[in-house]
Amino acid sequence: MIPAALAAALAGARRVVVLTGAGVSAESGIPTFRDALTGLWARFDPLELATPAAFARNPKLVWDWYAERRAAVLAAMPNAGHVALATIERRVPGFLLATQNVDGLHARAGSRAVVELHGSILRVRCSRDGEVVARWDDPIAADEPPRCPRCGAFLRPDVVWFDEMLPAEAIARAEDAARACDLMIVAGTSAEVYPAAALPHHAKAAGAMLVEVNPHATALTPLADFVLRERSGVAIPALVAAAWPGRPHGGGAGSSGRDDGGGAK
Ligand code: OAD
Repeated sequence: MIPAALAAALAGARRVVVLTGAGVSAESGIPTFRDALTGLWARFDPLELATPAAFARNPKLVWDWYAERRAAVLAAMPNAGHVALATIERRVPGFLLATQNVDGLHARAGSRAVVELHGSILRVRCSRDGEVVARWDDPIAADEPPRCPRCGAFLRPDVVWFDEMLPAEAIARAEDAARACDLMIVAGTSAEVYPAAALPHHAKAAGAMLVEVNPHATALTPLADFVLRERSGVAIPALVAAAWPGRPHGGGAGSSGRDDGGGAK
């Protein structure tokens, strides 16, 4: 299933960048956004839930929707695709994982060099000054979101909504890495939301090999040098096994980040 030329390119790559989207968490039971029927945006209107205007109009609705998703994410576990990406990080000299996901599953699978382009649903911040708040009360019956302990403004999830800028440092770091990498893996994203979707174009323009992992075609497919038409939880472990045959892969969710062979804790 893995072309030999691709396995050899990954094994020999000096700098690898990975761009992930909601599809890599699908096998952990977290819904994607744009998949027909099962995607969140097939069932909910993003304009009512994921914009600053929506939060201003109905803060409690938006807060509760994210609180529900936060609970689902905390109950989910990283899958074999997340774990295999953490393995790649330990095998190549230079690595960066830029994710559009807000679920924190890459870190829980052992990835360390992670840039969260769209923030994290696990964090909460003040809607006025952006200060992250470590603890908050969230009474179920309350008719408004909890308030910032310092200034009294509503708290909000530390995610990037439509009509908002990405964290400048995060996107700059991802763009620099994309322009300098020799191989980019794009997994589980429809590649429709910019500026994240521009990262593969930057890599390709700079001469990198582009690999798409997605069961379905995307706008990016024509640009890819290799396409693995498979779920990421199957394709990425297979890619790791083909690139480094004979070396067991894994490490497991919540692993210490040591390479395999170092012994399980
Ligand atoms: P999308 O829902 O747009 O795309 C998910 C992609 O994952 C699709 O191309 C699917 O074919 C693919 N997919 C589904 N199951 C998969 C699997 N098991 N393995 C691999 N791929 C699979 O999600 P994103 O591209 O992440 O932004 O969406 C980008 C942004 O739009 C999100 O970060 C979010 C959303 O609105 C904000 O909320 C700002």
